Amino acid sequence: MSQILKDRFGRIHDYLRISVTDRCNLRCVYCMPEEGMEFEPEERLLTFEEIAEVVRVLAGYGVRKLRLTGGEPLVRKNLEQLVRMLSAINGIEDIALTTNAIHFASRAEKLREAGLTRINVSLDSLRADRFSLITRGGDLSRVLASLEAAHRVGLDPIKLNVVLMKGMNDDEIEDFLKLTLERNLHVRFIEYMPIGHDDDGWKTKYISLNTVLERCESIGWQVEAVEQSVRGNGPSQNFRIAGAAGTFGLIHPVSDHFCETCNRLRLTADGNIKPCLYWSDEFNVRRYIGNDQALAELFFRALDVKPESHEMAKALLSEQQSHTPTSRRMSQIG
Ligand code: GTP
Ligand code: 5AD
Ligand code: SF4
Repeated sequence: MSQILKDRFGRIHDYLRISVTDRCNLRCVYCMPEEGMEFEPEERLLTFEEIAEVVRVLAGYGVRKLRLTGGEPLVRKNLEQLVRMLSAINGIEDIALTTNAIHFASRAEKLREAGLTRINVSLDSLRADRFSLITRGGDLSRVLASLEAAHRVGLDPIKLNVVLMKGMNDDEIEDFLKLTLERNLHVRFIEYMPIGHDDDGWKTKYISLNTVLERCESIGWQVEAVEQSVRGNGPSQNFRIAGAAGTFGLIHPVSDHFCETCNRLRLTADGNIKPCLYWSDEFNVRRYIGNDQALAELFFRALDVKPESHEMAKALLSEQQSHTPTSRRMSQIG
């Protein structure tokens, strides 16, 4: 291998998050406005062949792990085909999916056969009426059926992403934790991030994840740190309730960011490399596809401007930030 994707701070990038669409079949309150957004027309999305080309080149520079995201990745037609193409690329060891899982159950087997290794499911409530409210119309029973299907086809680990929101789902911490007692699931509580829009909602909904550990203590559950990290890319601090089958994790993208060990690059559905989730720098790959050397150089240029860390906490305090935060929403980043 010629070179690895190391940035100015010595961080090695072996993980690429690929957004395959900016569309979603849900409208979670913290992610997308009710009326939807102006979506990219299909012809502006990278084709599967183009995505595979990018991955093939990056695999030559040490990228080993991929995550398919959206919007909702399963709304992109024939995603199984892309998974098959990516899993055939030399060097790729892990192909994960971040999904709302509404449409996963019926496709679990085909995706698994195509080479999918694991899934992270976004699930913010275990109460059908509240789930529908948060997602603006989502059907919880479909997500639960998808979790069963994921187990059935042997995906492991299966992670749940729970964005914790004050006054919205913080009374369900115990219910989520109870899921881990019986089942080999990994429930990750995530801080609400101020990302890509000027909605002040997150300021009122943001809640510290210490609440989770405090809740365990008040219930009387003994909690142990899980040193051996659950297979993944590291942002989560992992714990187990004594005797539980599964684990839980805390992801602090805002208060205790994991930028120091950041190993990720992003490719948006419209073909932009985003070296950092939070800032606005982007590099379009489209005209470099077909020229491996030039494409690789573009990724190194992106790494050259990758900042040491985000400054989300400054937004929380209304302080001046050093760069321009992205105007994209999470659904357009992935
Ligand atoms: P694993 O590989 O299983 O560890 O997954 P992951 O955490 O890399 O991916 P996932 O898509 O499940 O993201 C989980 C949460 O991490 C998201 O809800 C975000 O809150 C947060 N997150 C994801 N990517 C980034 C990032 O680049 N920077 C920051 N600060 N937070 C991120
Ligand atoms: N804060 C925290 N997590 C978010 N996600 C989307 N928007 C936000 C936000 N503002 C989560 C989704 C999904 C993951 C990719 O990002 O719930 O699980
Ligand atoms: Fe990496 Fe930027 Fe995310 Fe920090 S905010 S973990 S530097 S992508």
